[in-house]
Amino acid sequence: MPQFNDTELTAAVIRSFEKTPDPRVKFLMEELVKSLHDFVRKTDLTFDEWGYAIEFLTRTGQKCTSSRQEFILLSDVLGVSMLVDAVNHRERDGATETTVLGPFYVGEHKPMPHGADISADLPGERMFVKSRVTDLNGKPLANVPVDVWHADDDGFYDSQKPSYETQGPSSRARFVTDADGQFFFRTILPCSYPIPTDGPVGEMILQTRRHPMRPAHVHFLVNAPGYEPLITHVFIEGDKYLDSDVVFGVKNDLICKIEKRNDPLMPDGKPATGPWHLMTYDFRLKPGVGTAPKPMMAEIEAA
Ligand code: BEZ
Ligand code: FE
Repeated sequence: MPQFNDTELTAAVIRSFEKTPDPRVKFLMEELVKSLHDFVRKTDLTFDEWGYAIEFLTRTGQKCTSSRQEFILLSDVLGVSMLVDAVNHRERDGATETTVLGPFYVGEHKPMPHGADISADLPGERMFVKSRVTDLNGKPLANVPVDVWHADDDGFYDSQKPSYETQGPSSRARFVTDADGQFFFRTILPCSYPIPTDGPVGEMILQTRRHPMRPAHVHFLVNAPGYEPLITHVFIEGDKYLDSDVVFGVKNDLICKIEKRNDPLMPDGKPATGPWHLMTYDFRLKPGVGTAPKPMMAEIEAA
């Protein structure tokens, strides 16, 4: 008869999974139990603390909707998302670095023609984004869908605003690379912004005296058949939060120097309406397989 005390209990719980048919599930459950039990032992967790954790996780779940994922946010601010990313992308072989997907890959990424202004109605400094998708040898990859999304000049994603329901997507779109692997579009210069602080994750950030800020960036998801899906951001050089991103997502190779321009014509030969910024960033894909995530949002999944 095992004694369920603080030393023998762990082995008993691990044994309870011994008939799990899938070896990977069995391994994950055993390791999860070991890590959780170690945490409780090391911290001498009190009933109040355990109860608080249960209540916190309950509220985290209750905050989730079809367009808000508080659990991803929790994983992000605890560095778990970046750690999962790191262990799955140890060897880049010169491919573009990856970073977190984040909770705002939602809604509709409408296919748009090259040169389209994805932030047409929004105030902000104008920016032209010029990019190319290649393999590791620099061979252009044609016909590749690239989803882009970023926050507005006030630091909000379209899906965070009440107007989303009526006005639809803004500052998010899908482009498809041309025969030379290129795509380009107009938008506004993104700014640094706080992650949502009106839920349990924000509460934890504020109570632990962390700041909630992410440095300015544009998200890209490049999904070419025969290549690993690339989930990444391009960060704006000079942002004051680059070395303290609340979700630990910045990598040096993803920081881009944005050029200030006064030229009357933008790179596609169309007139500029005033001073503008140029972001030039190329993506190199690694051969492989993998399934790119789909944008979150119940109405879209049902469609
Ligand atoms: C974002 O960049 O959209 C993001 C990523 C992780 C947490 C919150 C926001
Ligand atoms: Fe973002």
